[in-house]
Amino acid sequence: MSNESLANLLKEERRFAPPAALAEQANVTAEAYEQARADRLGFWAEQARRLSWHTEPTQTLDWSNPPFAKWFADGRLNVAYNCVDRHVENGLGDRVALHFEGEPGDTRSITYAQLQSEVSRAANALLELGVRPGDRVAIYLPMIPEAVVSMLACARIGAPHSVVFGGFSADALATRIKDADARVVITADGGFRRGKPSALKPAVDEALTRPGTEDVRSVLVVRRTGQEDIAWTEGRDLWWHDLVDRQSDRHVPEAFDAEHPLFILYTSGTTGKPKGILHTSGGYLTQISYTHHAVFDLKPESDVFWCTADVGWVTGHSYIVYGPLSNGATEVLYEGTPDTPHRGRWWEIVQKYGVTVLYTAPTAIRAAMKWGDDIPAGFDLSSLRVLGSVGEPINPEAWVWYREHIGGGRTPVVDTWWQTETGGIMISPLPGVTATKPGSAQVPIPGIAATVVDDEAREVPNGSGGYLVLTEPWPSMLRTIWGDDQRFLDTYWSRFEGRYFAGDGAKKDDDGDIWLLGRVDDVMLVSGHNISTTEVESALVSHPRVAEAAVVGATDPQTTQAICAFVILRGDEDASADESALVEELRAHVAKQLGPIAKPKRILPVAELPKTRSGKIMRRLLRDVAEQRTLGDVTTLTDSSVMDLIQAKLPAAP
Ligand code: WT7
Repeated sequence: MSNESLANLLKEERRFAPPAALAEQANVTAEAYEQARADRLGFWAEQARRLSWHTEPTQTLDWSNPPFAKWFADGRLNVAYNCVDRHVENGLGDRVALHFEGEPGDTRSITYAQLQSEVSRAANALLELGVRPGDRVAIYLPMIPEAVVSMLACARIGAPHSVVFGGFSADALATRIKDADARVVITADGGFRRGKPSALKPAVDEALTRPGTEDVRSVLVVRRTGQEDIAWTEGRDLWWHDLVDRQSDRHVPEAFDAEHPLFILYTSGTTGKPKGILHTSGGYLTQISYTHHAVFDLKPESDVFWCTADVGWVTGHSYIVYGPLSNGATEVLYEGTPDTPHRGRWWEIVQKYGVTVLYTAPTAIRAAMKWGDDIPAGFDLSSLRVLGSVGEPINPEAWVWYREHIGGGRTPVVDTWWQTETGGIMISPLPGVTATKPGSAQVPIPGIAATVVDDEAREVPNGSGGYLVLTEPWPSMLRTIWGDDQRFLDTYWSRFEGRYFAGDGAKKDDDGDIWLLGRVDDVMLVSGHNISTTEVESALVSHPRVAEAAVVGATDPQTTQAICAFVILRGDEDASADESALVEELRAHVAKQLGPIAKPKRILPVAELPKTRSGKIMRRLLRDVAEQRTLGDVTTLTDSSVMDLIQAKLPAAP
């Protein structure tokens, strides 16, 4: 990737200083950077003291066999004890841990004392099923309290969980059960999705007919939807309410080594079978607890935290389960979609529970923008004090809209960069310290070392672009790919000697702040210039009529690749009337924002964009469309009919 071309195409000059009142009371101040710079390992050793250890660690990092790290290796702890029991012991048993809001409107508030009973019962149930430390348990549940309880019950008895997103198919579930060799599956009859019950148990039944899943002895089933006609395998299937409810609510947590596996979480690469990312206990919990405290300025006695992710993704693992609960926070757990039964559902939830810190994804913010400003304006969102974003680069326009229309122009917005592999937040502003820049994740958090390098692994100067790398091990780093150390080495550690290659393009601005530019596979080569899809998308979204944009490079005989953009227009605007005039206007707009080289050759207004179930745009499929090829694998799409609509719109190649 040449440096000159990626650099600073987009000029974003807006700056937002931290609110003075927040800065004065902030959990973390600028001093933390100094402290961590002076003694990085000492800094993390201090953060580890946020936790209650059965045996305090005397070692911090063992990097004698890189890149296989051991953190706090001689320490012993119980992760579930840290997330539940210790708060009860500290007199906080009556504090609400979870405000559960079901999609149909049923609610349940669970205190830390109640959570302790539930987790203890579930742990005793798993023990009765013969689950022993080290055995893997697959969890395939909707967003209901039992999902959180199951994960903590596994952690409590040292059985690594493998949570499989409830939207995944029987095939995806079978592959993951097989790869982890799970012994027990925890599921539900179904969950509520878009106003209807949506079954889950049939997918488990189907998955367990596949070869390689024979080791599953028990399927524990939560009754959520109450559907009648549920298939049952005697001797294997058990109702949660039969088994768990009759258990003792006492369970003495056992201490495990800091490096004891906590969970496996699969992340689908662009090619090959999904990678089972392995996370362990002490280092993971240290970084998750610290980042939740630092990046969200979380005050457990007064904040109401809400992370809108699904527990099936790493965001849900780290910032619904382990971060907030290790910090004794009160949080919201919402089962459903943002537009059921109406498009103001999220804002209604913020108002109802007085949510103070909201953590969501750019895709959701752009959807809310598209639905219109008047919807959030109809609710009282004045409780909000910090907003977070994660999952993909956030376009400056979406960032500013989020701050204005959700944050009332008051709240800091923290754009947090991290990955399933990093376990926790790595690059992000701190809300009481950083003057934020819309669209930039800006700086590694204290204790984290990241930079941008060129093809030859040389660190690029400010104002230039290249590849994002992490230059020092961090506590919540993945320890390996489950069962495949070689793939772990090849995927992350072979591109740049001694550095972790994240797979993302990035640039450093003139201040040295980091801007994420999307996966490196998404960088386009146009007439010898590297142009980031993210920057062209941001330029398009900065036009008042564009709500969302996806940009791809399509093979082109003259320019190597030609920029092809798919745009969704704002509100209910109908483009057909003046489509060609609007397309010309948008092309000119991009040329003005980024320079003529970045002007899209083609722009297609479309109704929807193809997205994965975690909300990421599948540019690979759009590239197929732009190059008029047969579509590749569409099985991870939320809705495959989207592609038919897009193809139907496609005019003959110019
Ligand atoms: C990839 C990791 C981290 C939890 C959710 C996604 C992209 C994530 C940002 C951000 C720009 C981002 C990167 C990264 N990404 N956060 N704030 N700005 N890009 O986890 O599914 O493992 O995906 O998501 O491309 O590599 P994941």
